[in-house]
Order: sequence, then structure tokens, then C-alpha cells
Amino acid sequence: MRRRHVLTLAAAGAVAAACSPQEEPAPQGAAGTPPPKPGAGGLAFPAGFAWGASTSAYQVEGAAAEDGRGPSVWDTFSHQAGRTRGGDTGDVAADHYHRLYEDLDLMRDLGLKSYRFSISWSRVLPQGRGALNAKGLDFYHRLVDGLLARGIVPVATLFHWDTPQALQDEGGWEQRDCAQWFADYAQQMFYSLGDKVATWLTLNEPKTVVSLGYTTGIHAPGKQDHRAADVAGHHLLLAHGLAVRAFRGTGRKGAIGAALNLSPVYPADGSAGAARQAAALDVEENRRWLDPVLLGKYPDGWLAGQPANAPVRAAVRHGDEAVIGERSDLLAVQYYNPAFVTAQGGRVTKHPTTQASWLEVYPDGLFDLLTRIKRDYGDIPLTITENGMPTTNDVQDDDRIAFLRDHFAAAHRAIQAGVRLQGFHVWSLLDNFEWAEGYSQRWGLIRVDPATRDRRRKASAEWYRGVIARNGLDA
Ligand code: FCB
Repeated sequence: MRRRHVLTLAAAGAVAAACSPQEEPAPQGAAGTPPPKPGAGGLAFPAGFAWGASTSAYQVEGAAAEDGRGPSVWDTFSHQAGRTRGGDTGDVAADHYHRLYEDLDLMRDLGLKSYRFSISWSRVLPQGRGALNAKGLDFYHRLVDGLLARGIVPVATLFHWDTPQALQDEGGWEQRDCAQWFADYAQQMFYSLGDKVATWLTLNEPKTVVSLGYTTGIHAPGKQDHRAADVAGHHLLLAHGLAVRAFRGTGRKGAIGAALNLSPVYPADGSAGAARQAAALDVEENRRWLDPVLLGKYPDGWLAGQPANAPVRAAVRHGDEAVIGERSDLLAVQYYNPAFVTAQGGRVTKHPTTQASWLEVYPDGLFDLLTRIKRDYGDIPLTITENGMPTTNDVQDDDRIAFLRDHFAAAHRAIQAGVRLQGFHVWSLLDNFEWAEGYSQRWGLIRVDPATRDRRRKASAEWYRGVIARNGLDA
């Protein structure tokens, strides 16, 4: 079983662009009728709630070698034998690069208020730094313009795991300079797109890069070295802080923050040992990321608890934590699963799972997570940038509808409890390249035919359109 999100304690220890060559076709006309309000007993969300959907560049774009795009670590990795299920790659992915306007119209027809995507660093900077690739950047101008024309707010992620291969060749995230390379790239994006994009996310799930990219090696760059993993983790956080600083330096208006995948951790039983293990796992799963970003310091004892010769001790330099803690405007929360931990530090599953065996379905975990963030980190505005499930059901995905309904209800409860939750982006808009799982797991609201890439709305998309139109759930 390939566990995606939660490490066991053992594993954890161990410019303006050139003019667009493609013009947008004329709009087809708005869809939909005036929204009925949720019925009596339903759950109404606050006015302006940002119902959205998420994707990431390597998972949907395709066009891997077009218009000057440079390779990323995911191109390299997915082309190595045995790395992905069935040898799948993101060469074509959901072909979003070529089907942009079709996808934009699908988003409009869903009624999306917000769309969270990522910029492929090596599409805009083929070598990771230096001169911008105008053709690559132009794709993002077309995307953002197309969103704005449809009344959809663009939420841009700067790094969703696709480190430029050219920078990996120079050490990638193990190399401290990578944090500055990232901030320089981020600054170029703020200047290029910042008059149109008001919400920026620095990193997607640095924890997953550390755990799967550098510890278990089931993601790019495929390393199995927990010492290097911790160093990479620190440099990722430093990159976040430097990018926030760069954003402030541009004077651009808008909001910036990190996208963290967080898992509420519970003792599996009432024993003191399980409670101790849960507190320890909570540090790895949550506090190691939240504390530096929101409080400007690693959890007490975290660094000191590393072995004396651990390279991360030297990697964390004086002043780094203050940089990482540069004030964020928002926190993007990604919630999939809880963690139940035993007195021995093992994991147990207490609820049904999904096609992704690591995804234990526990909507209450979302409520617990959101209210805990408010309790421990204050009233920073939150938006959920990922939540969803894969299913083997094709277009009649009633299980996904039930999953989303329960998580929306949990989010609603959190709002009622005073959490400043401003939006909810479903993972994912489209069936796409699910990393090491290739195309075997289908997470989309919209079906993408594996052979033709033709799109078809699933039952969940139709249902979600109703939720958005009513701004809430029916009883
Ligand atoms: C998250 C990733 C996203 C997708 C979902 C299922 O960890 O950020 O790209 O793989 O899981």
C-alpha cells in the first residue's frame, strides 16, 4: 500500500507576455437560472463564499515539451521505469493546455467562484531562473484572463511539486540557494500576473515533498534519505518566507499564504502512551509546518530533538525562522484524512477508506482541524484548497457526492463555531495524473476520457453546481 499523506513516526524519524497567439473564442452565453436558496433545515453559507475547484500544472496541463517548456523533476521521474503505475506520465495529462477554453467554459457552467491552479515553474522559466519564456507565461495570461472574463477568481499556486529539472541538477531543495531561486521566480510572477491575480499560494504541501519525495521516494525526485528530507523541508519553508517577503516588496495588492496538508491526530485509545504518541505525531504532521509559518518558530524542542549530527541543525540558520514567519494573509488548508495513533506509535484506521487506501473518510476531522487552527494560531483567514476523493464509479459518482456533502457540512459547522473560512476548493476539477498512481485514480468532478480526453460532467459536478447556485446544502 502506498500511503500518501501521513508518515508513521518511524518513517518520520528515519513581464508582460507577447501577444496571445490563441484568441479566446466568443462566449457561449451564461448558463443557469436564478439560484433557489437552501430549503428550511438546509445549510446556508456566508454570502460570497468562494466555492471552487483545484488542479495543478503537471497533473492537468500536458504539452510537456511545447512552447519552450523545460522539464521538471516530475517529467524525469515519471519517465523512469517503475516509478508510476503503468508507466503513466503527465506528457498529455488532461490536455488542459490545449483545451483551455473548453475547461474555462466548464468552470463557468459549474458556477465556480474560484479556481485554484498552479504555475509550472519550468514552463515560465525553462531553466528555473533567468529570462522568462514569453510563450509559457502567455498561457497563464490566457488562463487568468479567461477566468476573470467568466467572473471566476484566480488563485495561483507557485509550486506544486514540479521543481525545474535544471535546478534539481544543481541540488534542488537540498541546496539552500533553491529558496532564493524560488523567491526570484515568485517575484517575476508577481510582477507579470499580479495586476490580475490577487490570491497567491507559495507552496503546495511541503510535507508531502519531504515525506514522499525525499523519505519514501515514491514521488519525484525519488530520494530515500530522511536527513536530506529534513534539509529540503527547511529550505521549502524558507522559500515560502522569502516569497512572501518578495510579494510585499512588489507592493502588489492581494493575499499570500502557504497551502498545507494537515491531519488532525488522535490517540487510538484512552492510554497515556497513545496520547503521548499522538502529541508527537501532531508535531510532525501539523506543528512542524504551522508553527514556523504562522508563529515564526519551529515547535519547541523540534530542532533540538534531531540527532546531533543531523544536517537540518546546520541548515536552520539564525534569522531563518523569522523569514519563514513573515506575515501571511491567509492559510490554505488541505484536508483528506485524520491519523489515529497507538501507544506503540503505529497507525490504525477506524473509518472506511477509499480507492486511495490512505484516505480514511472522517469529515469530523475537518471540523476539528479548522477549529484547532483558530484556537492555536488565531483568526487568520482560511480557505480550503483541497478536499475530495477518488472513486472507481465513473460518471455516477454518488459516493463522491456523499463525501463532499459531509465535508461541506463539517466546514459549515466550523464557520458556525467562528472559524474565518472563506472558501472551499474541491480536488479536483478534472480527472488527472495522480502522481505515482498515474491515471488509475480518478478524482475529478469532470470525467476526462483516458483515450480521447473528452470531458463529461459527472453526477458530482451536477450536484456541486446546485450547491454553488444555492450557496449551501439542502436539508
Ligand atoms: C494532494 C495533492 C494533489 C493531489 C491530491 C489527491 O496531496 O496536493 O496534487 O494529488 O493530494
